[in-house]
Amino acid sequence: MSNQESWRVGVLFSTSGVTSIIEQSQLNGTLLAIDEINAAGGVRGRPIEPICYNPDSVVARYGELAEKLIVEDRITALFGCYMSSSRKEVLPVVERRNVLFFYPTLYEGFEYSPNMIYGGATPNQNSVPLANYLMNTFGKRIFFVGSDYIYPRESNRVMRNVLRQGGGEVVGERFYPFDTDMAGFADVAREIVELQPDAIFSTVVGQMCIDFYRAYHAAGGDGRTCPIASLTTNEAEIAAIGPEAAVGHITAAPYFRAINSPANRKFLKAYGQKFGSVRDVTSCGEAAYCQMHMFATALEEVGEMDTERLREALLGATFDAPQGHIKIDPDNNHTYLQSRIARVNEQGEFIIENKVRRAIKPDPYLVYPGIHDWSLRTQKVAQQTV
Ligand code: ACM
Repeated sequence: MSNQESWRVGVLFSTSGVTSIIEQSQLNGTLLAIDEINAAGGVRGRPIEPICYNPDSVVARYGELAEKLIVEDRITALFGCYMSSSRKEVLPVVERRNVLFFYPTLYEGFEYSPNMIYGGATPNQNSVPLANYLMNTFGKRIFFVGSDYIYPRESNRVMRNVLRQGGGEVVGERFYPFDTDMAGFADVAREIVELQPDAIFSTVVGQMCIDFYRAYHAAGGDGRTCPIASLTTNEAEIAAIGPEAAVGHITAAPYFRAINSPANRKFLKAYGQKFGSVRDVTSCGEAAYCQMHMFATALEEVGEMDTERLREALLGATFDAPQGHIKIDPDNNHTYLQSRIARVNEQGEFIIENKVRRAIKPDPYLVYPGIHDWSLRTQKVAQQTV
């Protein structure tokens, strides 16, 4: 029975299917934020009530369930989606019905909708620093492997351009369907080991990412000499891959569990208390947590579920996130985010190696690519700190 006095919001993350590991962490981040908001008295004295559906990682289901949430459950604010293909299903639905849609996932950029608040990194916040780091640390010959859908194909296009600017070269590119298992990656793993590129850029997502890293290890690939670098592979997936096959590999993201700051310690403590462990905390889960808190602050200010007024309150809003200070950019509805590069150690833990000095303005259309500017903006992290 729903509480008549609650603020109802729609939540669409998959707890089954190929991207359930990461989407479960996004759901957890969302629910933790709602618990915190409600425990502090709710919004104007009323609790936030999530209406959650599981799209089962089936792309078309996201659009159908968004429609159901809006038409039957009468929500006007929606939180959800990991894969860009699922976001593209939901986008026309929320635009047609003028619903506010919070998307807490890194993506390929080149999109803007007045109905969207984008909480994950754009290529200038992750691809550009990663390309710079790979070429400076390992070399300029990079092999691309991806899942076969819009994010990997578009993300590779951007990455190729960024690498070229720095004198880099793409020495191979392969895409794989979502049902590819470890055996299905055996050929490309062997090919990479024989070709000996300087690094691999992986846009393989979800369960199949675990199989790809394991297949590379089984073929003799070693992350300590030729790492797989990714924008998506996270703590939960590294735990599933296991330290032996994961060691040496690299991820660029705004947030890692290893951040040593009061805000992150507080976040991890609350997460562990609610879910029993912090094993599956991820960057996208942290983004989901931040977006719900920022929404609640805007709702407190506005006092009604009005898309135009909420958007106005959200644009320019700031939050002291577990990753550091962030801000929604009024120019484009994306978020100023921190940027870090971390490498897996022998114990299977990410160790942060590089970070930017302050949050980076999102540039979803890559108007200012500037790989040559990048090194001026980063600093080496001496110890495992913010
Ligand atoms: C993604 O599909 N945006 C990871």
